[in-house]
Amino acid sequence: MTKYTIPQELINKFRAPEFPGSFFLSFEGIEGAGKSTQIAKLKDYLEHKNYRVLVLREPGGTFFGERLREAVLNAKTELHPLAEAHLFASSRAQLLTEVTLKELAVPNTVVIYDRYLDSSIAYQGIARGLGVKEILDIHSIFPLTLVPHLTIYLKITPEVSEKRQKIRNAPKDYFESRGIKFYESLVEGYDLAAEMFKDRILKLDANKNFSELELEIQDAVTKLLSSKPKTWNNDLET
Ligand SMILES: Nc1ncnc2c1ncn2[C@@H]1O[C@H](COP(=O)(O)OP(=O)(O)O)[C@@H](O)[C@H]1O
Ligand SMILES: [Mg+2]
Repeated sequence: MTKYTIPQELINKFRAPEFPGSFFLSFEGIEGAGKSTQIAKLKDYLEHKNYRVLVLREPGGTFFGERLREAVLNAKTELHPLAEAHLFASSRAQLLTEVTLKELAVPNTVVIYDRYLDSSIAYQGIARGLGVKEILDIHSIFPLTLVPHLTIYLKITPEVSEKRQKIRNAPKDYFESRGIKFYESLVEGYDLAAEMFKDRILKLDANKNFSELELEIQDAVTKLLSSKPKTWNNDLET
């Protein structure tokens, strides 16, 4: 772990946005972890509680981001990890300002990202070897310093990932066509992110069945929604 020691001042730069009544969430984990499945269930759950729910995926969500998505998914040659990291960072900055921040300004909104900063840490930082500090450095300027209030990290083994991907029978894309070693380093990267951002990231064992996991997620999110962040200065209203 010493290999990846990150200065605390750098970690402290990352903060959740402050919009009373609105929340920013992300789901992380390797392919087949259950992100899409659990996001759909959580969206339903939150909509029943009368929240406006918006699900976003990078790169994409903006005209600029969609062009970048095509570029990365159809890449004929291997992208340099630095090119990859900057590509995701630029689409992320655009999506944050063009969509996320505007939506969060509307009270009662929950924005859920299907992958965010921790995927950059795991994919480009660890699996592609760029380094975690390098990823955090790229993100150290606003709006990239914005992180979710809560990140649900669904942890599965590479073996379970492979099994679920086979069942799903989806065509392998740019990221999925790599071997088991790559998945092991992704898990290492996500675990490392969970260590670094202990307060933000909730690591859940996602090898277990859907419904048990669904309840754990609902529990954590409900707690978050009923908490009042210290930063809200409601004294002014009384
Ligand atoms: N907890 C679970 N137990 C068994 N199968 C699951 C579980 N979560 C997801 N799956 C299945 O695994 C596959 C991948 O799930 P998905 O939600 O698409 O994962 P992700 O979005 O993280 O890649 C799907 O076929 C899904 O039905
Ligand atoms: Mg998915």
